[in-house]
Amino acid sequence: MGVEKLKKIVVVGAGSMGHGIAQILAMASYDVAMVDVSDEFLQKGLEKIKWSLNKIVEKRRIRPEDAEAALSRIVTTTSYEKAGENADFAIEAAPEKMELKKTIFAKLDEVTPNHAILTSNTSTLSITEMGSATKRPDKVAGMHFFNPPQLMQLVEAIRGDNTSNETLDAVVGVTKKLGKTPVIVKKDVRGFIVNRVLGSVFNEAFWTLHRGEATKEGIDASVKYTGGFPMGWFELADYVGLDIGYEVGEVLYAAYGERFKPCPEVIDPLIKERKFGQKTGAGFYDWSKGRPRIPFNLLEEYDVERSWATAVNEAAWLLKDDAATPQDIDTGMKLGTGWPSGPCEYADRAGLDVMLNKLKELHGKYQMEMYKPCPVLEEYVGKGWLGKKTGRGFM
Ligand code: 3HC
Repeated sequence: MGVEKLKKIVVVGAGSMGHGIAQILAMASYDVAMVDVSDEFLQKGLEKIKWSLNKIVEKRRIRPEDAEAALSRIVTTTSYEKAGENADFAIEAAPEKMELKKTIFAKLDEVTPNHAILTSNTSTLSITEMGSATKRPDKVAGMHFFNPPQLMQLVEAIRGDNTSNETLDAVVGVTKKLGKTPVIVKKDVRGFIVNRVLGSVFNEAFWTLHRGEATKEGIDASVKYTGGFPMGWFELADYVGLDIGYEVGEVLYAAYGERFKPCPEVIDPLIKERKFGQKTGAGFYDWSKGRPRIPFNLLEEYDVERSWATAVNEAAWLLKDDAATPQDIDTGMKLGTGWPSGPCEYADRAGLDVMLNKLKELHGKYQMEMYKPCPVLEEYVGKGWLGKKTGRGFM
């Protein structure tokens, strides 16, 4: 089925991502069936959609009647059978548990027509494994949105081992219909593009805090005001949800080993107390009165070049794995997380040799795998590909 013929889309999950995805699909004129395990969850999701639509109307980005029309295109149900009827496409946005996701995929496979494409908004789990729970693994792909989906312009289109070209094209087509930009994750690698790079800078920040070299406020101040990132790493971790960040961190550690060694002293106590960040009112920061204020006066505590060097290194690892192009890595970080520059273009400007030396300095000092330069970076510098100044770097 051509992407222009797709009419009805099922969204599984009305939580922090699911409700936003349902909303933008409806705003792009799709008929949406949002399914969850209880009416209470569905109602909460609908309330959030109404709040967001109001905000968008307030900002005059859509007319009130368009918001009404979008809302009327969303039906909510606890019945998979009802949701799946005549559906052409599905996006699963349930909690990050593989067994749960496989059960959902098996169910979607059962209740949707044979032509329907089934996708997952997973942050990091294997698309191939989810596909194996269905009789149509070629029609299963990743479609990864960023929080909040109403504002972030990126979707990662992820190819599982059995995903067909037509399926990936459909994910790209729906993404464009939503007015968003797709990047292609060529292989089913853990963390895909954005969460892998983000995971590396989060870990750098957590370990720096743990070593007592800077406060979380100091790190966030430097990241935000010197680095020009929209949020500090601790603020962003809270914003995304520490429970999600924790799960992603565990999966990255299992996949890549010591390079993603988590820092349990920093995150585990908050997880144990169920302080998951914004959604629970507390995490690294107190969110009970809204977004935390990051002070200006602590900029000197942290050198934001450390974040850049770590991000550049992980971008090089993505290239080594042949999981994405440098252009897609940069687009991913800029549109998925609002970074002022992609890591590849940043390194090309600053000098790959400068980044490599920073990593060597950090590796020498801390002896941690996360700072060990990726062979791709060493290779490029060895060839004299230093970036803009030599006419060739990552690009
Ligand atoms: N719908 C509509 N409007 C919304 C909204 C929503 N869901 N959420 C926030 N807004 C509005 C706010 O209410 C605010 O409106 P106001 O001006 O009337 O107060 C406006 O958007 C701007 O928000 P803020 O003033 O709070 O702040 P910013 O200018 O910093 O913008 C942001 C907010 C776009 C979230 C920006 O801070 C940003 O880009 N942060 C980084 C987010 C990020 O990195 N996301 C990806 C995380 S990784 C991920 O999601 C992957 C997953 O797998 C873990």
